[in-house]
Amino acid sequence: MSDDEAAEPADEGDASEADSTSGGTVPVGVKLGSTRTVIALPGAHGTGNEIIKTLTCMATYEDTLTGEEKILYGEEAAREYPDRVQYMLRSGLPEDEDRAEMTKTFFETLIEENDIPADSGVVYAIPTIDNPAGLENLKSVIEDSGIGINLMESYPESLCGSIPAFGPGLEAIEEIFISVNMGSTNLEASAYRRGEQLSPFTTGAITGNEVDRMIANYVEEETQGRVNIDTQTAREYKETHADFVEFEPFTDIIQQPGGGSHEFTIERSVMDAVNEYLDDAVDELANTFLPELANDYMKVYQLALDRPIVLTGGMACIPGIVEEFEARLSEELNREITATATDQPDVAPTIGAQRIAAQLVENS
Ligand SMILES: Nc1ncnc2c1ncn2[C@@H]1O[C@H](COP(=O)(O)OP(=O)(O)OP(=O)(O)O)[C@@H](O)[C@H]1O
Ligand SMILES: [Mg+2]
Repeated sequence: MSDDEAAEPADEGDASEADSTSGGTVPVGVKLGSTRTVIALPGAHGTGNEIIKTLTCMATYEDTLTGEEKILYGEEAAREYPDRVQYMLRSGLPEDEDRAEMTKTFFETLIEENDIPADSGVVYAIPTIDNPAGLENLKSVIEDSGIGINLMESYPESLCGSIPAFGPGLEAIEEIFISVNMGSTNLEASAYRRGEQLSPFTTGAITGNEVDRMIANYVEEETQGRVNIDTQTAREYKETHADFVEFEPFTDIIQQPGGGSHEFTIERSVMDAVNEYLDDAVDELANTFLPELANDYMKVYQLALDRPIVLTGGMACIPGIVEEFEARLSEELNREITATATDQPDVAPTIGAQRIAAQLVENS
């Protein structure tokens, strides 16, 4: 059902034909996400994209020999300094000046360690959130970064994330469709008409982070209070085991403070949480977003619902979520709905942003 011919998962390789034609300006796509930051660059020898993906977190420590302050980011920081690692974008955007400064430090370190060229044209995929102060802080992070000297633009994350679902280029920009971005701090839905964002809808109540909290609670219930996990572990359970097609119960082991260990099996906690998440998302789309869209743009609503709805964002990575979304939304609306996603919905916004960058660089 989901493999409509207009929305095939695309090979990431063909997008960047403009790479070598632009007098040295390297087209780069960036998403500074609350959970992960993703950067896309043209691959070596024009072969596809190089993708850099890291947890959006950092920790500082003192160099024992020089006394200098050192910065560690991403998975390493989370693993080695769980006691003081900071997730600067935990709420989706840099909340205040301190977090904006920290985000700048994180981003600069990431740029330096991965040799992202200053001589670049950068497109940022940014969330649609009604938080002017946070967006202003994000803007200052972007503008103070050392990259994008030749060109710097931003486009909505849900538009960027839909681009790879429509083909190898920028076909999505010619289309009318609905996109749903399923992130860690937000659920966002918008209609797009030739790239123009219509009736954007966001809620902070139906989120990947909320699923993690639910999983942690359900694990405690399922193990009769014997097992307490933090939300980081809950997120790992979700990312590793959540599956709408063939979920398998799994076991894990906790070390007990007094010595010894306790092995337990999780049968329900993960799927109960993601099932509730999907029900809530479908309910909100069917009863809030779509009626508003129909009210604002009846014709767009009709045209868009005859086409696949594009699911993007990390939560759309859960196997089988597209088919399950189709079935539940079709039932709720009492008409047949189709949906689609690329094979990597979590990196799709960055890949889409990189394709826009390639086009803008070529035009300029
Ligand atoms: N393979 C996976 N399976 C299940 N969930 C996943 C997977 N990969 C990522 N996620 C979840 O997706 C969410 C992150 O999505 P995404 O990267 O789109 O969010 P974000 O852009 O950082 O956040 P937001 O825009 O909401 O602030 C997290 O809850 C993460 O645990
Ligand atoms: Mg996001």
